[in-house]
Amino acid sequence: MRETQTETVRLPLAAHVARAGLYLALLAAWVATAGSLYMSEVLGWIPCLWCWYQRVAMYPLAVVLAAGLIARDRNTPRYALVLAVPGILASTYHILLQKVPAFAQFESCRVGVPCSVDYLNWLGFITIPMLAWVAFAIVIVGSVLALRANRAVQLDYLAEGPLLGFSPAFSVGVAVAAVVALFVLSGVMTAQRATAAPAPVSLPMPSEGIALRATREEALRIYNQSCIGCHGPANASMIWVRPEFLRERSDLELLAFMRAGRAANAPDNFSGQAMPANGGRVGLTDAQILALIDLMREAKR
Ligand code: HEC
Repeated sequence: MRETQTETVRLPLAAHVARAGLYLALLAAWVATAGSLYMSEVLGWIPCLWCWYQRVAMYPLAVVLAAGLIARDRNTPRYALVLAVPGILASTYHILLQKVPAFAQFESCRVGVPCSVDYLNWLGFITIPMLAWVAFAIVIVGSVLALRANRAVQLDYLAEGPLLGFSPAFSVGVAVAAVVALFVLSGVMTAQRATAAPAPVSLPMPSEGIALRATREEALRIYNQSCIGCHGPANASMIWVRPEFLRERSDLELLAFMRAGRAANAPDNFSGQAMPANGGRVGLTDAQILALIDLMREAKR
């Protein structure tokens, strides 16, 4: 007992910093993982190709860091770097795609949701790949600090968690549980808000003149979250929506089209790319789709 105590006291600053860095890396990877699942599964934002490449690096990072810290494995930073370095390169490229117009032309992003679109634009410039970049950077800095400590410190500095001497397994468990609980809770709250809006019980017939439509405001919000990625802004420049397609069809026919979507190899497909059923968004009500149809008619008048 006394020996462990004196060892704890003798742990050099570099080892404390390295350990804190690795646990911060763990938090960053879990926040990024939970956050990306929140955006795709709760908010309904469809991930683009380069979003997927970053996910391929980030999701295993969350698991590898947790497992490595629980196992008190001094090689954890090496495994983390193998994932975080390609990850930050993918984020960097994705940021360039969004911010430098010349990059947006690249072939790899012509399929599915264009990579150059920002679903999120905090403060007018912070986008999703920037958040991923920051998470990868935290992991890289924490890992490099830990590698340096490995060389300098022989003591088992991963034997305890960073706080109050709790065991690594307990510390990792608390950190992961806190992050997951936070995002599940906000997911449930978002879902409740979304379903609180009254849904129509039957199809509104245009001839009845009943305005069973969501507001234009709501339609615009949904459009900017779920459709803008493929169709561009909701104005005359809206791509892949032909004015005559809207003109020649009733609201009900367009509603049926929206529910079904159009496969990439469907005979009437003109772009060679798929329009996902419901525009790829889960849980759209008829009222919301009808308001979206109004919005498209208005844009393509
Ligand atoms: C993953 C990309 C993607 C998303 C997301 C998406 N669309 Fe589309 N949509 C397409 C493509 C591609 C076409 C053209 C298909 C074709 O070539 O026939 C299309 C076609 C359409 C058409 C028919 C246009 C025409 O002239 O045939 C409508 C209407 C439409 N989309 C509405 C929406 C709405 C509303 C949303 C959001 C709720 C949405 N789309 C989300 C890719 C998408």
